[in-house]
Amino acid sequence: MPVHGFTPILLCLLPIWRILTPVSSHPQHSRCQLIQRTALCNDGKLSSVPAGLPDNIEELQLNYNSIQTLQDTCLLRYSSLNTLSLACNSLEKLESNTFQDSKLLENVNLASNNLYIGYQETSLALKNLIVLRALDLSENRLKDEMAETLLQNLTSLEYLNLSGNLLQRLHDTSFGDLHQLKELDLQRNIMFEIDNAFNSNSKLQRLNLAFNYLPCLTDFHMSQLVVLNVSHNVIDFFISRQDLNDTFQLETLDLSNNQLVFFPLLPSHSRLRNLYLSHNFVRFYEHLADNVTFPNSTTSVEFYNLKKHTRNVTAKLWDENLHGDISSLEILDLRGNQVDYFPNGFIQKMPTLSRLQMCTNCLETLNLTSEQFSGSLYELDVSNNRLNQISADESTLTSLGNLTYFNLSWNALEWLPLGLFSSLPSIRSVDLSYNNIDICPSEETEISVKTISTCVDWKNIVSLKQLYLRGCDLERIPTSAFTGLSLTHLDLSDNPGLTTQESIQSLGRTLQHLGLGNTHIQDFDFSHFKSLKSLNLSRNSLADLPPSLLNLDLKVLDLRDNNLSTIPSGQANDLAPKLQTVFLTGNPFNCCQAEWFSTFITTETLNVVGQSDIECEDIFQTPHRVEHSHSFLCLGEGGESTSWYILLFLPVCLFFMGIGIIVLLTFKPKMLKKSIKKKCLKPTSY
Ligand SMILES: *[C@@H]1O[C@H](CO)[C@@H](O)[C@H](O)[C@H]1NC(C)=O
Ligand SMILES: *[C@@H]1O[C@H](CO)[C@@H](O)[C@H](O)[C@H]1NC(C)=O
Ligand SMILES: *[C@@H]1O[C@H](CO)[C@@H](O)[C@H](O)[C@H]1NC(C)=O
Ligand SMILES: *[C@@H]1O[C@H](CO)[C@@H](O)[C@H](O)[C@H]1NC(C)=O
Ligand SMILES: *[C@@H]1O[C@H](CO)[C@@H](O)[C@H](O)[C@H]1NC(C)=O
Ligand SMILES: *[C@@H]1O[C@H](CO)[C@@H](O)[C@H](O)[C@H]1NC(C)=O
Ligand SMILES: *[C@@H]1O[C@H](CO)[C@@H](O)[C@H](O)[C@H]1NC(C)=O
Ligand SMILES: *[C@@H]1O[C@H](CO)[C@@H](O)[C@H](O)[C@H]1NC(C)=O
Ligand SMILES: *[C@@H]1O[C@H](CO)[C@@H](O)[C@H](O)[C@H]1NC(C)=O
Ligand SMILES: *[C@@H]1O[C@H](CO)[C@@H](O)[C@H](O)[C@H]1NC(C)=O
Ligand SMILES: *[C@@H]1O[C@H](CO)[C@@H](O)[C@H](O)[C@H]1NC(C)=O
Repeated sequence: MPVHGFTPILLCLLPIWRILTPVSSHPQHSRCQLIQRTALCNDGKLSSVPAGLPDNIEELQLNYNSIQTLQDTCLLRYSSLNTLSLACNSLEKLESNTFQDSKLLENVNLASNNLYIGYQETSLALKNLIVLRALDLSENRLKDEMAETLLQNLTSLEYLNLSGNLLQRLHDTSFGDLHQLKELDLQRNIMFEIDNAFNSNSKLQRLNLAFNYLPCLTDFHMSQLVVLNVSHNVIDFFISRQDLNDTFQLETLDLSNNQLVFFPLLPSHSRLRNLYLSHNFVRFYEHLADNVTFPNSTTSVEFYNLKKHTRNVTAKLWDENLHGDISSLEILDLRGNQVDYFPNGFIQKMPTLSRLQMCTNCLETLNLTSEQFSGSLYELDVSNNRLNQISADESTLTSLGNLTYFNLSWNALEWLPLGLFSSLPSIRSVDLSYNNIDICPSEETEISVKTISTCVDWKNIVSLKQLYLRGCDLERIPTSAFTGLSLTHLDLSDNPGLTTQESIQSLGRTLQHLGLGNTHIQDFDFSHFKSLKSLNLSRNSLADLPPSLLNLDLKVLDLRDNNLSTIPSGQANDLAPKLQTVFLTGNPFNCCQAEWFSTFITTETLNVVGQSDIECEDIFQTPHRVEHSHSFLCLGEGGESTSWYILLFLPVCLFFMGIGIIVLLTFKPKMLKKSIKKKCLKPTSY
C-alpha cells in the first residue's frame, strides 16, 4: 500500500504532538512512609516539614526535598524526635527556636545545603539541642568563622562531619567547646594549617583530614587518637613528639598520596597496626651513615620547626628509633615509593606483619633469610621492582608458614631459591609474570647441591591454586610441569609461540580460568576442561572458534583481536545461553554474515562488551558497526560475486522508487492531506 510511505512523516510529527499535550499535574501531597516510629519523606518535592505525621515519631527523614527554612514552629508537634535528617535540600537557615521543644534530638543531618547563608541564626537554633550527639554539616560552603559560630556551646557533640566545606585554617578555638568529640571528618576542605586545633578534644579517636593542603605534620602528640587519615595532602614530613612516655592508641595511619621523603617518624610507643604510605617518595638513607663509603656525608637529619615555640628534632640516620615503634604493624603499604632496600633489622622489628605491599619501588635484591620475615606474613607483593634475584635458605622458606599470596611480576628475575614454592606450605597464589624465568625441565633431579636456580618448578604443591606466567618468554612447557597441582587459575598469555597442550591436560579437572591470549595457539582441544568458566583467547589470529569450546559451560570468553569473519549460527546458539560476558572487538567480521550478533544481543543474560565498537566489513571492504549490519543489502551468502549485481540493481531500484512516488503524489494528493488531518491535527485538550 502506498500509504505506508507516509509513516516516516507522521513519526516526525509525533514529538510535536507530545509537546502540545500537557503533562497532567498532580496536586502536591506529602508522600511519607511510616515504619513504626520512623517517617520517611525523602525525595517528595516538599517545601516544608509535613504537619500531619503522628506526634510520637522518633525519626524524621526529609532528604532530597526543597526545604529552604526550618520555621520556629515546624517541629513543635514532634517532641519525641531523636533523629532528624534534612540532607540535600536547599536549606539556608534554621530559625532560632526551631528546636525549642526538641529536647531528645540526638542526631541531626544537614549535609548538602546552603547553611553558609543563615549560619548565625542556625547556630542559635543548634544551641537548644542539649543532648545532640551527631551533627552532619558537610557540603554547606562553610568558611572558618561560620563553622566556629555554628559549633559554639555544642558541648555534648560526639560525631561531627564538616567534610566538603571551605575551611582553611584551624586554631585552638575552632573546636574549643566540643569536649566530648570522638569522631571528626574534615576531608575535602582547603586547609593548610591546623594549629593546636584539637587541644580541647581529649576524647577524639577518629580524625579524617584527607584531601586538604596540609604541608606537614610535626609534633604529633594526640596520643588518644585511634585512626588518623591525612591521605591526599602535600605532606613532606610526619614527625611525632618523641619525648612522650604514654603509649599512643593509634592503630591506623593513612599518609598515602603525599610527598613524604622519609619514612614517618612514628611515636616511640604505639599500637599502630595499619600504616598506609603508598604514593609518596619514601626511601631509606641508612647507607649514608656508612662513614667509610661516604666519609663526608652527614649522619643525622634535623627537622626544623617553623614555629618558634616547638623544639627542633634531630634524628640519627641509623638510630633504630628513627622509625618509631612499628612492633604491632600488620599492614605496611609502601606501594609506589622509591625504596631500594630495607634498613638492617627493619623487617625484623615487625613480628606480626601480615601484608607487605612493595609494588612499584626500586628493590634490587631481596634476601628473605637476612630480612627475617615473620611467620605471620600472609601477602608479599614485590611486583614492579628491579629484582634480579631472590635468595632464601630452606628453613627460612618453611618458616613462612602463612605466606599465601606472592607477587613477583614485572621484575627482572633470573635467580630464585631452589624449590622456592614447594617450601611454602600455604602458598595459594603466585604471580611470576613478565620475568625472564624458565620452567625446570622434568628430568632435573630434586637432589642438588645448588641452593639457587635459574628455573622454577611447582610440582605437587597442593595448596597452589592460582599461577600467573604471562609474558615470560616461555616456548615449551615441560609435559609434567603441572603434575600434582589442582590449579583453578592459570594465565599463560603473552608467551607467543607457546606449545602447551599436553602439559596443562592434567589440570582439566580443576581449571576454571585459563589465559591463552597472544600465544599463537590454533587448534587447542578444550574438551577435557570441564570446569572451565573463563577463557581468554585474545590476539591469536583464530579464523574459527575451536569446536571443543561449545561443550563447555563457559561464562566469560575473550575473543578480541582475532581473525574471525563470522560465528556460525549453530555455534552462536550454543554459546549464547551459557555465556555471561563475551569480548569480540578487533575481528574482521563480515557484515553479511552477522546473524550471530543478533543472537548474542537478544540474549538477555549475555553482556557483549563494547557492543557498539564491534565492526564488520561490507562487500566493498568498508568497515561499519556491526550493530547497523541489518541495513546493508546482502544478497545470498554475500560474497564478491554478488557485488556487481548489487551495483547494477541499486540504481534501477532507486529509479523505480522515484517514479512510484511521483505517480503517487500526482494522482492521490488528497490521500496525503486527509491522513495528516486525521492523525495530526486532532484538536487537543488542555
Ligand atoms: C555559650 O558559651 C559561652 C561561653 O563559651 C557562654 O558565655 C554562653 O552563655 C553559652 N550560651 C549558652 C546558650 O549556653
Ligand atoms: C561526611 O559527609 C560526607 C559527604 O556528605 C560523606 O561522604 C562521609 O562519609 C561523611 N563522613 C562520615 C564519617 O560519615
Ligand atoms: C582515608 O580517606 C580517604 C578519603 O575519604 C579514603 O579513600 C581512604 O580509604 C581512607 N583511609 C583509610 C585507611 O580508611
Ligand atoms: C619519661 O620517662 C623518663 C624516664 O622513664 C623521664 O625521665 C621523663 O621525664 C619522662 N617524660 C615525660 C614527658 O613524662
Ligand atoms: C664512623 O662511625 C663510627 C660509628 O658509627 C665511629 O666510631 C667512627 O669514629 C666514625 N669514623 C669517622 C671517620 O667519622
Ligand atoms: C671530605 O672532606 C675532606 C676535608 O673536609 C676533603 O679533603 C675530602 O676530599 C672529602 N672527601 C670526599 C669524598 O668528598
Ligand atoms: C630550631 O632551629 C632553627 C634553625 O636553626 C632555630 O632558628 C630555632 O631557634 C630552633 N628552635 C629551637 C626551639 O631550638
Ligand atoms: C642472605 O642472607 C644470609 C643471612 O644474612 C646470608 O648468609 C646469605 O649469604 C645471603 N644470601 C645472599 C645471596 O646474599
Ligand atoms: C600463621 O598465623 C597464625 C595466626 O595468624 C599463627 O597462629 C601461626 O603461628 C602462624 N604460622 C607461622 C608458621 O608462624
Ligand atoms: C601482581 O602485581 C601486578 C603489578 O602490580 C598486578 O598487575 C597483578 O594484578 C598482580 N597479580 C595478582 C595475581 O594479583
Ligand atoms: C585477555 O588477555 C589479554 C592479554 O593477552 C588482556 O589484555 C585482556 O585483558 C584479557 N582479557 C580478560 C577478560 O581478562
